[in-house]
Amino acid sequence: MKVYGLIGYPLSHSFSKKYFTEKFQRETITDCVYENFPLENIEQLKEVLANPGLQGLNVTIPYKEQVIPFLNEQNDVVKATGACNCIKIEKGKRKGFNTDVVGFEKSLKQFLQPHHNKALIFGTGGAAKAVEYVLQKLGIDYLFVSRKKGTAKTISYHELKVEILQQHLLLINTTPLGMYPKVDECPDIAYDYLTPRHHLYDLVYNPEKTLFLQKGEAKGATIQNGYEMLLLQAEESWRIWNE
Ligand SMILES: NC(=O)c1ccc[n+]([C@@H]2O[C@H](COP(=O)([O-])OP(=O)(O)OC[C@H]3O[C@@H](n4cnc5c(N)ncnc54)[C@H](OP(=O)(O)O)[C@@H]3O)[C@@H](O)[C@H]2O)c1
Repeated sequence: MKVYGLIGYPLSHSFSKKYFTEKFQRETITDCVYENFPLENIEQLKEVLANPGLQGLNVTIPYKEQVIPFLNEQNDVVKATGACNCIKIEKGKRKGFNTDVVGFEKSLKQFLQPHHNKALIFGTGGAAKAVEYVLQKLGIDYLFVSRKKGTAKTISYHELKVEILQQHLLLINTTPLGMYPKVDECPDIAYDYLTPRHHLYDLVYNPEKTLFLQKGEAKGATIQNGYEMLLLQAEESWRIWNE
């Protein structure tokens, strides 16, 4: 039996196990299983890696960075972002990939218009790094909006003036604000100044329409949530494990 799985903590609401188990049933893939491996600390990964049938792992919060010392090889995206969410195990060697980048790029592209040439990224965590990588690749200028004082490329919510919102027509939420059960939260910005030329992308997918997206939609902006990204990153993992 080929074993695949997800490491992270906690994993009670994880999407991947259900997704792959249903995929294996639907596609009559009978020699594969997908398991959850909730790890209280990254050292426990050694026990998971001792499983002789293990072919691949997905990695989620809080281990996307901490897993890197366990890799024998990293692809260029992992090197650039410092985050790995997919590991392929072949002949005892572990190679790291970042399929969030692929999922984000493919899901965003269909919504992009020529005027979406400047973006604001809310949050500066692991997902924000995948978003940054894609925006650089697509030649879209960007600023991070953060609660912390940052670099030249980062402003605070306080510094996010109306003119900046009017110039940046692509808004990407990579914070957990608005995620179930805290559905009444959203990034603290002047939503009244959004327009039909804005596109709002929320990486959160539960609920389907977060408060961030509702507020954008009320101003005529186009919106999308993170569900398609989630599907695309899962399929990209499967492709990598089988190539
Ligand atoms: N759709 C998908 O496929 C997909 C993939 C990856 C992640 N996600 C989602 O994206 C979100 C972020 O994931 P992540 O791995 O990047 O998490 P993370 O590493 O914890 O980063 C989240 C960032 O959000 C900001 N933040 C956290 N709490 C906040 C608060 N109360 N108010 C304002 N900002 C806050 C922080 O940035 P500052 O400290 O700079 O403010 C933090 O760095 C999660 O909801 C996750 O489920 C979705």
